[in-house]
Amino acid sequence: MEKIVSLCKRRGFVFPSSEIYGGIGGFWDFGPLGVLMKNNIKRLWWKAIVEERENIFGLDTTVIHHPKVWEASGHLASFTDPLRECKSCHKRFRADKLTGENCPECGGELTEVKQFNLMFETYVGPAKQTANKAYLRPETCQGIFINFANVVDCMRPKLPFGIAQIGKGFRNEITTGDFIFRDREFEMMELEFFVRPGEDEKWHDYWIKERLKWHQKMGIKKENLRLFEHPKESLAHYSKRTVDIEYKFPFGWAELEGIANRTDFDLKNHSKFSGKDLSFQDENGEKFYPFVIEPSLGVERMMLALLLDAYREEKNNKVTRVILSLNPKVSPIKVAVFPLLANKPDLVKLARRIYEDLREDFMVAWDDRGNIGKRYFSQDEIGTPWCVTVDFQSLDDNTVTVRDRETTKQERVGIDKLKDFFENKLK
Ligand code: GAP
Repeated sequence: MEKIVSLCKRRGFVFPSSEIYGGIGGFWDFGPLGVLMKNNIKRLWWKAIVEERENIFGLDTTVIHHPKVWEASGHLASFTDPLRECKSCHKRFRADKLTGENCPECGGELTEVKQFNLMFETYVGPAKQTANKAYLRPETCQGIFINFANVVDCMRPKLPFGIAQIGKGFRNEITTGDFIFRDREFEMMELEFFVRPGEDEKWHDYWIKERLKWHQKMGIKKENLRLFEHPKESLAHYSKRTVDIEYKFPFGWAELEGIANRTDFDLKNHSKFSGKDLSFQDENGEKFYPFVIEPSLGVERMMLALLLDAYREEKNNKVTRVILSLNPKVSPIKVAVFPLLANKPDLVKLARRIYEDLREDFMVAWDDRGNIGKRYFSQDEIGTPWCVTVDFQSLDDNTVTVRDRETTKQERVGIDKLKDFFENKLK
């Protein structure tokens, strides 16, 4: 993990938020390469969930909803973690993560357990009064439930169908840590898949399999993924059954994605609290509340799993090569272009032309510093799958070398064939 944290900082993936002021726990900023990788993850999720499917629609709702949403969803009452505070140093801990009876920091006496609500509060409008109190959403799916009737009215879907959303979520976690694994501000990719009651268990199993396949398709090694069945007593207040896809993080197996059977809990409760009927009428005129299967995944947590899974080192003649063996679709940069020598104007001119040309279709980097070997190493470390080098032969026969990150093998490719070459590789 330390190696990943330092690589992320050094190469511009992740920076501690507000670092010049000493940082702010649980908040992270994403640098030039981090934002590219995050965007790739979101795009690939969206493609697999929305674009490749006929019956799943996208949505983009606000971070702040009417405060009644959180009453209806049960979050005001139940979205809590058990908390204990040290009476001496006043540090706060999650009671369920404590091992002893005393403060792990100073040994002081701890308070009794109380429930701490994880939602961030804010006030809407100029008056800071209870009536204006609102919350930053701790999950994006409530925006989906409260728009259920809108989507049904305009898309006229048949069951089963889904509504998907990607957006920020906020949780005032009592303890953070493990880098970007548990944050107070993060992005979520959530699908609410509505099904006929009675068919929910079948669809739940379907989504568990689909999601597991997707993680492998993204490049995560099969042996680092497993399923975890939540025992009945640890289920969230809305869930009939939840299965997590766990990843083998350096600190142990932990939840990567949760797949819950939320039953008709949310639609029923929003109907009750809002007075608007959110039941569904099928083609036979039968009215009922659909059940909901919900695969839910954090973008940052996925990014961490991908980075950890891709990281490897190769020792050769006392030189260590660090490689991020990322799926090229996830890699921030697809192609790096180099002139063999930076002081030969003909090579630089041709390389610049290729660089400008490829940029129209791919995320491409330029590098003319140091020697070629160093440039290859530098690209390996950030997971760039291919490097193009313009050499003297290029000036004669309009070919370049394309070097592959995984094999380090080079092949000559015609300059006019480069776009097709990379497009095919990325397919
Ligand atoms: N709507 C369902 C829901 O919110 P969850 O298991 O609490 O379920 C879903 O969260 C996913 O969001 C998790 O599997 C994880 O990937 C991500 N996630 C949750 N809390 C997080 C946090 N504090 N920091 C980063 N990611 C988090």
